[in-house]
Amino acid sequence: MMSDATPRKAAALERLRARTPGSAAMRPRAERRLALEAVPTFAMPVPLYIESGDGAYMTDVDGNAYLDLAMGFGSLILGHRPPEVVAAMREQLDKGWHTILPGLAQIELAELLAEAVPCAEKVAFQNSGTEATMFAMRLARAFTGKDRVAVFGGGYHGTHDYALVQEDPTTPEAAPATKTVGGGIPGAVRDQTMLALPYRNAAAFDLIRKHRDELALVVIQPVQNTVPHLDNGAYLRELRAVCDEAGVLLMFDEVVTGFRLAYGGGQVYYGVTPDLAAFGKIIGGGTAVGAVCGRADILGLFAKGGTAGVFAGGTFNGNPLTMSAGAATLRALKARKDTLYPALAAKAARMAEAVIAHCEKHEMDVTLMHAASIQCFHFRKGPIHSFRETYPANRAAEEAFYALVLDRGILLPSFHVYFLSAAHDDAMIDRATGAFIEALDDCRADGLL
Ligand SMILES: Cc1ncc(COP(=O)(O)O)c(C=O)c1O
Repeated sequence: MMSDATPRKAAALERLRARTPGSAAMRPRAERRLALEAVPTFAMPVPLYIESGDGAYMTDVDGNAYLDLAMGFGSLILGHRPPEVVAAMREQLDKGWHTILPGLAQIELAELLAEAVPCAEKVAFQNSGTEATMFAMRLARAFTGKDRVAVFGGGYHGTHDYALVQEDPTTPEAAPATKTVGGGIPGAVRDQTMLALPYRNAAAFDLIRKHRDELALVVIQPVQNTVPHLDNGAYLRELRAVCDEAGVLLMFDEVVTGFRLAYGGGQVYYGVTPDLAAFGKIIGGGTAVGAVCGRADILGLFAKGGTAGVFAGGTFNGNPLTMSAGAATLRALKARKDTLYPALAAKAARMAEAVIAHCEKHEMDVTLMHAASIQCFHFRKGPIHSFRETYPANRAAEEAFYALVLDRGILLPSFHVYFLSAAHDDAMIDRATGAFIEALDDCRADGLL
């Protein structure tokens, strides 16, 4: 039911429904057979089914075009269907796309990674960021002979059992307990194999020292998706030193930051080299990919065999279509990196600063966090230091905002981080900025902010 108390949101939903009859008709058909249509964090104000993507736009089945700020959850840094990637994939399609035995593209992508990523002496490919963090944790456990892995509060590392053990934000920040996200994860995994650390907090260093004899690995995102701070350099440098001192391996989860913060990723941007890194998203050019990169002595366990080695199977690992899309993407980024990354950061800063200034001027309790082209709205007063400070949030305003923005033709992932790409030109950035500001003003006029 639409509430009379929020007339602008109600009118936006009415317009959206009127424009999307084809999507509305598809919903019951989808619901009949699909247990889950899309990731649950991408809740849309109205059903929306997509027909195609091109550049910075996606078009729905009713022919409505949206300026896309989801960008494949950060995978599409060159936009939808960039010509270099299309050409590489077409060429590979003509040669076959599933050969089991490796081809040249896998070697090329590994070489591009090794050249750009400081820790990447060796590389192994998988099909998702989830698999990359899973294999990296297994490598670290096998290499050190220790079982526990530490993750930071507010972090996200995918959907395997270990990754879904996270900080319990109801417990003290300086020594947080762990909780599982959702059911089906054994209590033993939660209690015996993981450790939660407080993010951007020096208490984490004491916990690493205290647990040094059981800790195989500390995992951190150089920038967290939903709490994107850019000023993490000093913290990451100290974390590196503490892990060295404690004899614990350090891994950067670069699934989002890889080739986004800089060509190479967070370890290039901050000048801190971890022992291991997990990549995904951008390095597959928008196709399903994961990669573990790191020290040759650690990744050497993959080739070792037997109980001393680490088993790593995968029907589609290193498949030629993904490898050629990824190599074409990295080659395009490498050729343009000196202008592309500064331009992307400048566009992103201009957008965020305009929205933040508007919120401050009108005293709206909205925080737009941004670390270059990774940006995230929180509907509460800032500053926000860590994920546990992102709630309670003004959910009514948040939901209205996403509907009001969508009505203006901007596809913003609800309750999620959004990404800018090289395909977003200045006019598109201005349009999105204007839409954000108008939607916030509508929320205010509806009494939600
Ligand atoms: C930082 C981070 N690590 C790991 C993952 C998992 O990657 P995938 O969704 O490809 O399994 C994600 C996904 O968004 C991520 O943001």
